[in-house]
Amino acid sequence: MQPDKRTQTILDGFGTHFDGHATHLAIAPGRVNLIGEHTDYNDGFVLPVALDRDVRVLFRSRADRHVKLYALEFDTWADFEIGNRKPNRSQLWPNYVQGVGLELAELGVQMQGFEGVVSGNVPRGSGLSSSAALEIAAAKAFLTSAKQIHALTGPQLARAAQKAENEFVGVNCGIMDQFISTLGEEGHALLIDCRSLDYQRVPFPDGVSLVIGNTKASRSLAGSAYNERRAQCEDGVRRLKAALPEITALRDVNLEELEAHRSLLPSTVYRRCRHVVSENDRVHRTVEALERGDFRLVGQLMDASHGSLRDDYEVSSDALDKMVEAMRGHPGCLGARLTGAGFGGCAVALVQAGTEKEVREKVQEAYAKAMNLWPEVYISPPSSGARVLPLVSGGSDGRTLRG
Ligand code: GLA
Repeated sequence: MQPDKRTQTILDGFGTHFDGHATHLAIAPGRVNLIGEHTDYNDGFVLPVALDRDVRVLFRSRADRHVKLYALEFDTWADFEIGNRKPNRSQLWPNYVQGVGLELAELGVQMQGFEGVVSGNVPRGSGLSSSAALEIAAAKAFLTSAKQIHALTGPQLARAAQKAENEFVGVNCGIMDQFISTLGEEGHALLIDCRSLDYQRVPFPDGVSLVIGNTKASRSLAGSAYNERRAQCEDGVRRLKAALPEITALRDVNLEELEAHRSLLPSTVYRRCRHVVSENDRVHRTVEALERGDFRLVGQLMDASHGSLRDDYEVSSDALDKMVEAMRGHPGCLGARLTGAGFGGCAVALVQAGTEKEVREKVQEAYAKAMNLWPEVYISPPSSGARVLPLVSGGSDGRTLRG
């Protein structure tokens, strides 16, 4: 297989910064979540798909425990010893790699260093999980270098990367992003049970497509508000336990129970809980509707999810609401909602197959007019999760990909 244009640029980057050749290319995608927002850290259900945008690490192993990685887009280096617990204070991105290395070492992987080049085309800071993609691509590079690519199952690998992000980078995310980046499948969404980590492939039907609108609006509130929402959910569980002692997370509560014990909750906490409980229910209904081919209903459930995130969970923003409105403004759009943590970033629309480009044009025009801001719009089929391609000698540049 001849390298594509992007891989060729990365191969050239390797040639500029290292002598000799790399041996492997690790690829890990970003994601978009169809439905199931802010449910993962409540032990609930999510339904993401992997994108055709990814982070790639082109590398070869080293004989020592050192990592030397050059980031093409940032034009900066990560340079650390595996096991070093001191975060990089001047740049953020190396910490994702370093944290994953630490976590894998703690899980007992006999670590080996590696060196190479990293490059990504997942829009950064846009709610499409560029960080999880970097973590998973790095994890694959570590495991390949250690010759232990099967040491962890996919869910274990996702858990390790999540832990690295929680503990080393200091971002309190759930497991959805790392999970789908590891285990995504072409042409499928994944229904993930974020408690048991069981998952089910849900075929993405031919009759519909996904259009993703990037608001390009700042997400400055995202971190603090995310943690506040998590705390409110935990508070809700603590209070509901007075009536429902067996529950450990909002996953264990249904809508009737929530209504019956509403008086135990302050009104804001009640609304946060109502979002999570109703969203879990919408995830299951979406899977059933997709399986039946009832795309209208899928669209309605996505619309309802957005309403719940906006009114009950309060994580939307003017830009996201305008983006969703712009998407719904085209008749090919069956439903639209914010995707990811919220407060900016992206919205996702389910559209009738064949209307993607028209919807994109409509969104560009209508959103730009409403917000005086030029959006980016991506059309992506559900794509594969992370993989590692070995490079072999041969081809015009002496390297081809076996994949
Ligand atoms: C971010 C987090 C995920 C998830 C979503 C909201 O993307 O990384 O774990 O909580 O927000 O659904």
